[in-house]
Amino acid sequence: MSAPNDRTDARPEREAATVRFDQAARAAEADLPTGAEKTALVRSMFDTIAPRYDLVNRVMTFGLDVRWRSQSVTALGLPAGSTVVDLACGTGDFLRILTDAGLRPFGIDLSWGMLAANRTGAPLVEADASALPVADRSVDGITCGYALRNFTDLESVFREFERVVRPGGRLCILEVAEPEHGLLRVGDRIWFRRVVPVIGGMLSDGAAYRYLPRSTAYLPPIEVLRPMLAAAGFSTVNRRALSGGLSQLITATRSGRP
Ligand SMILES: C[S@@+](CC[C@H](N)C(=O)[O-])C[C@H]1O[C@@H](n2cnc3c(N)ncnc32)[C@H](O)[C@@H]1O
Repeated sequence: MSAPNDRTDARPEREAATVRFDQAARAAEADLPTGAEKTALVRSMFDTIAPRYDLVNRVMTFGLDVRWRSQSVTALGLPAGSTVVDLACGTGDFLRILTDAGLRPFGIDLSWGMLAANRTGAPLVEADASALPVADRSVDGITCGYALRNFTDLESVFREFERVVRPGGRLCILEVAEPEHGLLRVGDRIWFRRVVPVIGGMLSDGAAYRYLPRSTAYLPPIEVLRPMLAAAGFSTVNRRALSGGLSQLITATRSGRP
């Protein structure tokens, strides 16, 4: 991972084209599924863990995930009244914070189980991120929390981002990260790879929480995400490390004239 707060915009589209191969290779190395098999696994896994998803999240991040989502909504930087899609909304943590900030969010998720556990009162739609049931240029922004590595085809998801967000609109992606240095990095590895699967097994579903740390193999580094987002029509791509790099926040602005 690169240093926090670094900024770059456009890179040649050709760089993005190498990503697909890298992702497939990394998935194969980690013995992880791709294509339709991945989509089916992700859907059924989230259906299974939905009832206790919030509880395990709070325990495994010591409640820091709530603060990270609030920081994300602040970084989105949209005025009250703006329409925001919370993509892969899950049980609705982002939706609550967006509503409290005066925004007008609606949620989209692949997993019916996660949507059924969502008690936010925001409008919800069951759909795949690579085919959004949303009109062109109709929203002011997108939030997307801890879902990037779960998507099957990132390039088509980014094309959908570009299609539905109006020019000047904002994108905010929150994802897991690895701290770069020292004890925090070692501690995070032990916690995430050894302890979380045990806690997940006790409170929810062991297989799902063993998959979770392995699924980071799907996540492209910022050096790859930047050109992909730029090729999809987003500028001022910015990455910020949160809490020493335990999570990362990626923001971008949709290019083009309003
Ligand atoms: C780790 S959860 C994150 C939920 C929520 N955003 C949060 O911050 O807690 C990942 C979510 O992504 C959803 N998801 C995975 N693949 C998806 C896809 N292709 N389209 C839409 N949602 C997807 C899952 O169903 C799940 O609810």
